[in-house]
Amino acid sequence: MANEMMKRWYNAAKTRASVREYSGKVPKEMFYRLKNFAESLDNGDARIEFKSKSGVLERPRFLSFLGGVGGTNCFAAIIVRDDNKFMGGYIGEAFVLECVSMGLGTCWLGGTYKKGALKNYFDLDEDEKLLCVISVGRAADKPQPAEKKTIEKLTGLSEVDFNELPKWQQSAIEIARLAPSALNKQPWELEIERDYIRIINTKRNFGFGDVDCGIAMLHIEIGAAACGVHGDWFFDGEDGEARFVPFADRLNVFADEEHADDDTYDPEDDFEE
Ligand SMILES: Cc1cc2nc3c(=O)[nH]c(=O)nc-3n(C[C@H](O)[C@H](O)[C@H](O)COP(=O)(O)O)c2cc1C
Repeated sequence: MANEMMKRWYNAAKTRASVREYSGKVPKEMFYRLKNFAESLDNGDARIEFKSKSGVLERPRFLSFLGGVGGTNCFAAIIVRDDNKFMGGYIGEAFVLECVSMGLGTCWLGGTYKKGALKNYFDLDEDEKLLCVISVGRAADKPQPAEKKTIEKLTGLSEVDFNELPKWQQSAIEIARLAPSALNKQPWELEIERDYIRIINTKRNFGFGDVDCGIAMLHIEIGAAACGVHGDWFFDGEDGEARFVPFADRLNVFADEEHADDDTYDPEDDFEE
């Protein structure tokens, strides 16, 4: 992915929080930009349709205690082929971070929307399924960040061990930790080895566990990229778990090694505008 885009998404990942109350829909020019962006994310395993329709996102007022969003009718529908939930999570989060970097608010929705009404708007192939939607609009208020699990809980590493990791791994873990997940359960753990990070799903999380892992995968990649480390994913764990492995040509030139003698080095210095 282009470095400029990674920079925008890094900043978006650090500042985003779910928005459930909106003060207006997406301006026309942004809407068409996002529609094109959504189309560009289609990779055969998952695709996104960005739409504006009333009666899909809002619950009837008498059911508002169940949650849901209000104040916008724009949403991205995440459609997956062959139940590829990882990929749905991965490209859906790319869409979220692009929206946030354009100054918009978003919220992943797996349950609190009108799925029945929504299905009428799509032509799905036999092997396709609607996975989730993402509401998009202008946030009514500044969203409040949700509390996340500690790094120790997510990695099993003490603070001392974490601080000894190469900078690219520290940054990948920190950005993964901020990833959204259904019910904020963060149903995954990270296995850290010198030259890889593996993500292990620990809970079904009401059928959204793999979506949550796909979202966290993108965050890992963005965190590593902030230190100049790019790589690829391999699904080669015992149960097919995903492993992020830096490209071989980067192994000896990790940005943290370039900055090994510089105690004041912080990847954000390179990334923040
Ligand atoms: C796959 C998925 C499904 C979600 N479904 C809903 C939902 O149905 N309703 C809702 O209000 N929030 C939903 N959320 C938003 C989460 O509750 C939210 O991401 C989590 O509480 C963490 O907060 P944050 O996004 O502000 O970091 C969902 C999130 C994910 C990733």
